[in-house]
Amino acid sequence: MSASKAEAGWHPASWRDRTAGQIPAYRDQQRAEAVMAELARLPPLVTSWEVDALRDQLALAGEGKAFVLQGGDCAESFADCRSDAIVTKLKILLQMSVVIVSGLKRPVVRVGRMAGQYAKPRSTDTETRGAETLPSYRGDIINRNAFTPQDREPDPELMLRAYERSALTLNFVRSLIDGGFADLHHPENWDLDWVQHSPLAEQYHRLVQTVSDGLDFFESLTGKSIDQVRRVDFFTGHEGLHLPYEQAQTRFIERRQGWYDLTTHFPWIGVRTSQPASAHVEYFRGISNPIGLKIGPDTSPAALRGLLQTLNPTNRAGRLTLIHRLGAARIRKVLPELIATVSEAGAHVVWICDPMHGNTETATSGLKTRRLENIVAELEAAFEVHRAAGSHLGGVHLELTGEHVTECTGGARGLTDSDLERGYRTQVDPRLNYEQAMEVALRIAGHGRGV
Ligand code: PEP
Ligand code: CO
Repeated sequence: MSASKAEAGWHPASWRDRTAGQIPAYRDQQRAEAVMAELARLPPLVTSWEVDALRDQLALAGEGKAFVLQGGDCAESFADCRSDAIVTKLKILLQMSVVIVSGLKRPVVRVGRMAGQYAKPRSTDTETRGAETLPSYRGDIINRNAFTPQDREPDPELMLRAYERSALTLNFVRSLIDGGFADLHHPENWDLDWVQHSPLAEQYHRLVQTVSDGLDFFESLTGKSIDQVRRVDFFTGHEGLHLPYEQAQTRFIERRQGWYDLTTHFPWIGVRTSQPASAHVEYFRGISNPIGLKIGPDTSPAALRGLLQTLNPTNRAGRLTLIHRLGAARIRKVLPELIATVSEAGAHVVWICDPMHGNTETATSGLKTRRLENIVAELEAAFEVHRAAGSHLGGVHLELTGEHVTECTGGARGLTDSDLERGYRTQVDPRLNYEQAMEVALRIAGHGRGV
């Protein structure tokens, strides 16, 4: 292996020498290794040039010249790899981005939490029901949700099924986008059935009209069409939690002299695996992808300083995105110090606000929920705190679906705890439904003046 290939002792499996949280052991190690070998032979899901293109776009977001919209399910499921579910998710992300573009007057970088978001961190290793205790469900890439010993046993074959489902999803998304589905001249493609019944419909259609008129005006003035608007980029991201899977698709690209995780454009490190000495940090430091790092209220400035150095030693713009998820109640207290830590280190980062994961609570029914008012409050605070500190809020990270679920409360229809049972479909965390997501997009768009 050349010196550049084995930089500072790193190789795609060097994480195995560290404590690896959240990665269950396979009973049949031999089978797990055979699956990894097969995954390593299969073609990559994304290419290094797409990954590099995303890094360049993220660098712009870091300077406040673009805005990242990252969104999708908390956890994808194999069962939801269906055309209608994929189209609906793409539609809501496209609708939100047109609203944000028109408000912020900045390009939007779209990153789906999709085509690979199959591994979930859990707070406990086991789940007990009555007298029976079984391993926790950890996402469709690891085991199955049904509460039986066979279903909960980690099964290496599921890595192959996850790879295939990711490829199917990505193939469909790419075809839709290449076929003109995302053309801003035809936003009527994206109307979801219930748009016309939504209290937000009028505001949305007005914004779309403004963007369309602007395009027509530009094109008639210059005699050129805006190809970049016609064909939008769409990137994928997932939590890079199950390192055996990520490792298997990690390749050295000679032309770029770097290792790439080619399961996705934008993998991120979750809060539960972000300790500076963790296996996950070790794996992520060696890949060339732009990466995300979730920052929680317990991330200390000292830990953050170390992570900035380990994960981006050359201080490359666009390489590192800090996704803060602090909670509406704590963001104003905690974020200023984190921003100060980054600016004192002179580090280039992209700041993204995840207003979901710090605002989860349990309703009286026992269902996990989030209040839209808290989500919006955290987002508004993020804009304010960054502005006051002279840094840029470069994007937002949301759990959402284009479907009409009732998992978060609040919003234009005033959903309450008693509405939750009606349309509660998530396997893990509560997602914004279509209208709630649009409401968040409209709030973001409202930050266009003076940014
Ligand atoms: C998630 O993004 O679904 C998640 C588990 O987030 P966090 O690591 O921030 O808790
Ligand atoms: Co989640």
